[in-house]
Amino acid sequence: MIHVLFVCLGNICRSPMAEAVFRDKINKAGLEREVVSDSAGTGDWHLGKPPHAGTQTLLQQHGIGWDGMLARQFRESDYSDYDYIVCMDNRNKADIAQWLPAGDPPGRPQVLTFMELLPERGVPDVPDPYYSGNFEEVYEMVEAGCDILLERIKSTLVR
Ligand code: 4NP
Repeated sequence: MIHVLFVCLGNICRSPMAEAVFRDKINKAGLEREVVSDSAGTGDWHLGKPPHAGTQTLLQQHGIGWDGMLARQFRESDYSDYDYIVCMDNRNKADIAQWLPAGDPPGRPQVLTFMELLPERGVPDVPDPYYSGNFEEVYEMVEAGCDILLERIKSTLVR
């Protein structure tokens, strides 16, 4: 089982969108027993809250559910519980280093930024719609990047 964690700042806008879109792609590919999608935030302001209304709207427009999804904060054990930690921007990637376990344990996850999945775009970060209000732009990036991520993971699955 491959475990994927998307990380943003508040865990209410970008990373829950990625979690839900990626899970939808996993389900449509029939890989729900092989790949799991989750998300977390580096901040603690929105703990226990459902996705932002803007994220809900985009998911609803695309027929994707967010049942039971509630914001939580990143934690040290995420480094041992996940195979891929995909940070929506470079600040998120820098911020999670504060939870790095001491030493260099085996089986550490691949940590990447989401836009590393879409290098041809030359855009370093998924813009934060909490400030821009542009959830459509984020959805388009998330949709494209999740396709690439699933293809990459599928190529590693032993069948
Ligand atoms: P997210 O957006 O990181 O995509 O969930 C944000 C949500 C909340 C805040 C910042 C960004 N905030 O400052 O409360």
